Amino acid sequence: MSARNVAPRNIVILTGAGVSAESGVPTFRGPDGLWEGHRVEDVATPEAFARNPALVQRFYDDRRAALSRVEPNAAHRALARLDTEWAAASRGDLLLITQNVDNLHERAGSTRLLHMHGELQRALCTGCGAAPGWQGALSGGPPCPCCGAAKLRPDIVWFGEMPYHMDAIAAAIDACDLFVSIGTSGAVYPAAGFVAWARDAGARTLEINLDPSAGTAMFDEARHGPAGTLVPLWVDEVLGR
Ligand code: APR
Repeated sequence: MSARNVAPRNIVILTGAGVSAESGVPTFRGPDGLWEGHRVEDVATPEAFARNPALVQRFYDDRRAALSRVEPNAAHRALARLDTEWAAASRGDLLLITQNVDNLHERAGSTRLLHMHGELQRALCTGCGAAPGWQGALSGGPPCPCCGAAKLRPDIVWFGEMPYHMDAIAAAIDACDLFVSIGTSGAVYPAAGFVAWARDAGARTLEINLDPSAGTAMFDEARHGPAGTLVPLWVDEVLGR
């Protein structure tokens, strides 16, 4: 029997903005192509930050402040339940990789979680390289708690920068037998290429998204609809409920 037909042991899940949409966090690629009224090049590149740091800091300060007004939804909660129950049953490894910079997965209770595009609630010191947790605003140039320099930027992976945790992600994908992509348009690499890596590793692949992603043809199976409905159903299935 091939790995594609047996019950999964090692699961890798990739989430994108769609998993937080029902919590009221806007996705990146809205119908107008703008992210909260801004072109991505104006707020999510190192060049934008060099050109207009005040605008970029204000943009992420607003996104960080908005986290206190949103709550995890049924999809985040179902993935946290899977995290707990998969570990308790010692059925194999589980890794949740998120492209999201919000904190809704951890607030729902997920622990085996990597933020490959950084976190709103973390700052990055361009002076000493420290990445302290950060709740407030970065506008106004607060000092780095480690070196004292006013050189903090949002700890967000911008276009043209290297995503975080790529070694751990590659190892988990190599060892997985089920790869599930949830709420991502498949427009941004390297995340959009994970499905091909997983297929090469012999994993079964499943897409759960509101509508077909750019890479939908790469998946063994695709389920289209809201994550808040489809993810809890899928988690029940995996847990044999
Ligand atoms: N349930 C499931 N999927 C949804 C829902 C929902 N309720 N609402 C929207 N979606 C889907 C959309 O159909 C779309 O395919 O989620 C996807 C969101 O796509 P994007 O906005 O492109 O977000 P994402 O794929 O996470 O973007 C990747 O791009 O700008 C960068 O770094 C940023 O991490 C981000 C990366």
